[in-house]
Parts: sequence; structure tokens; C-alpha cells
Amino acid sequence: MVDLRTHYMGLVLDNPLIIASSGLTGNPEGAGKAAAAGAGAVVLKSLFEEQILAELGKETEGVDLDAHPEAEAFMSRTAWEEGSDAYLSLVRDSKLRVGKTPLIASINCVGSGNWASFASQIERAGADALELNIAYMPDSPSISSKTIEDRVFSTVKEVRNSTKLPIEVKLGSHYSSLPYLAAHISKIGANALVLFNRFYRLDIDIDRMKLTRAQPMSDGNEYYDSLRWTAILFQRAGIELCGATGIHSATTMAKFILAGASAVQICSALYKGGWKTIGMMLDDLRSLMETQGFSSVDSMQGRLSAQSRGRLDEYMRFQYIKALTGIS
Ligand SMILES: Cc1cc2nc3c(=O)[nH]c(=O)nc-3n(C[C@H](O)[C@H](O)[C@H](O)COP(=O)(O)O)c2cc1C
Repeated sequence: MVDLRTHYMGLVLDNPLIIASSGLTGNPEGAGKAAAAGAGAVVLKSLFEEQILAELGKETEGVDLDAHPEAEAFMSRTAWEEGSDAYLSLVRDSKLRVGKTPLIASINCVGSGNWASFASQIERAGADALELNIAYMPDSPSISSKTIEDRVFSTVKEVRNSTKLPIEVKLGSHYSSLPYLAAHISKIGANALVLFNRFYRLDIDIDRMKLTRAQPMSDGNEYYDSLRWTAILFQRAGIELCGATGIHSATTMAKFILAGASAVQICSALYKGGWKTIGMMLDDLRSLMETQGFSSVDSMQGRLSAQSRGRLDEYMRFQYIKALTGIS
């Protein structure tokens, strides 16, 4: 009998399949359905830091929505105006629906500030953990990478000062030194890193000479970047890892566990296949583990990470050189 349990941020999950933040988990019914379908944990739809500031009586007119790469894509104006009280009800009501399945609240933010204290209210509302989707999009040549990283650090620090909840930080992949960033956010109180967020994508419609929205859902080939960084960071940055983006099958989920992830998040696969996808992926993961002779997630985790192979270069430049020199 394969043991799918995994340890993640001090929580024991029944399995490593976490439902990512999206409209599917934007109401208690959705959160309940995810748990009933067998998810290891559920991340609620994000609340935006500006929604919290609005509740605190701060001016939000003129808030730069463009600073949030996801704002227009993920939130209708109505949801935006619902504010943080509605979010606390979402946490409370979802908690009642998910039973023993861990519930992770989510805040989408671009900086630090007063809103960070809201984390304590999320804790009191019954969330088991908090995801910080730090989604700052630098748009000025005068902002250095250090300034951006410092923004990430001050956000994590302020939220950590406000809550004892486990914190997972969900980031995009465009940072100069992910190993440093990962190690430092761990030092200042983050428990896990979610690699990576998939931002709103733009495209150009040539016929109409207009900007358009690119495909909002991932496909099953988009996981390579996340997989590589999971393997590189495992046990080297002092932080637990959760794979994300492009995970559409048990095979890909297994690859992330072998690379070192404690868990993975899925979103597009659910939009495409419905709630039954969860049970199917878990059944497939069990059979795959049996075939490969793994009795538990623990025994499988990190078996093909850079650390375990002692060959960091295989995941770095050497691999690239080998690939290129192999092409005639
Ligand atoms: C319709 C939709 C809504 C989303 N809303 C949120 C959100 O509110 N907060 C967040 O952190 N991520 C949000 N995401 C991103 C997903 O959580 C996930 O990180 C991304 O889709 C990549 O995973 P996937 O390849 O499994 O889809 C959303 C994605 C989609 C497609």
C-alpha cells in the first residue's frame, strides 16, 4: 500500500496534490468540492492588498492596477469591491466545508505596509496557512533588482510579525538569484516557496493590430523551469518547495517529488478536466509509485535533486552544453 502523505510547512497532508488559488476556490462550495474530491490542501482565491487597505480606510483611488500582472485577469471589479470582510467570511465558511483538509488563504501583494497586519485576522478566521502571492511587476529601468528583492523581504517580514501561520511565498521566475532569495525568505520566516506563479500573458493580434490576452490556462509542457529550480533548491536553500505551473498529470507530479517538492499545485488541469481530475491524478500517482518501487512520498522526495546526485552542473550549464553539442 503506497503512503501518499507528505509533510509540508508543519502540516501533514493526506497527499501532495494542492488545489491552487483561482476562481474555482473563490467560494466555500468550490473549496468544499476540492476537499471532497481528495485534494491534499486547498488554496483560496487571492485577496488583493488594496482590498485590505480599502477596509482600513486608506485611499485606493488611483491604485495602479497595472502593477499587478494578474489584477485584470483574475478579479472582476465587483470582487475587488467586496473587500476584506467578505474574504474573512470566505475563510470561515470554507473552513467549515473542507473538514480536515488544510485550508490556505492567499494574499496577492506588491509590497509591504499596513495591510500585513490583516494576516492575524486570517489566522483567527481559521486558515491553516497563508500564501503570499508577491506579484510585483517592475516597470522602470531605475528600479534595481536589489530594490525589488528588498520589497519581497519586507513583505515577508511584516506578515511574519503579524501571524504564526505557516507562510508559503508564491513567486514568478524572474529573479536574479533565486537561491539567495529562497534562503533569505526562509531566514526571515517563510516556510515554503511555490515555484512558480504563471502571470497574465499578453499577445498581439496581427489582423486587428491590437493587444490581446494570451491563453490564460497552462498546458502540460510548461513545467520545465519550475522543475529545474525545484531540483536546484531542494535542501540547498533551507526552505520547503511546492511545484507549480504546467502540472497536468501524475507523471509530472512524480517528477516534482523526485526533484524535491513536498507538494504541487494544480489549476489549469482542473479547469480543463473538472474535479474528477484530482482522484485520477492520485490513482495514477499511486500506480506509478508502485511500478517504480516507492512505498511513500517521503522515500521518493528529492531522489533526483541536484543535492542527491551531487552534480549541480547537470542541472546548470553543463546540461545545456551537452544538449547543444549533441545536436548536429
Ligand atoms: C482563472 C485563473 C485565476 C487565477 N487566480 C489566481 C489568484 O487569485 N491568485 C493566485 O495566486 N493565482 C491565481 N491563478 C494562478 C494559479 O493559481 C496558478 O498559479 C497558475 O494557473 C499556474 O498553474 P497551472 O499551470 O496549474 O494552471 C489563477 C489562474 C487562473 C487560470
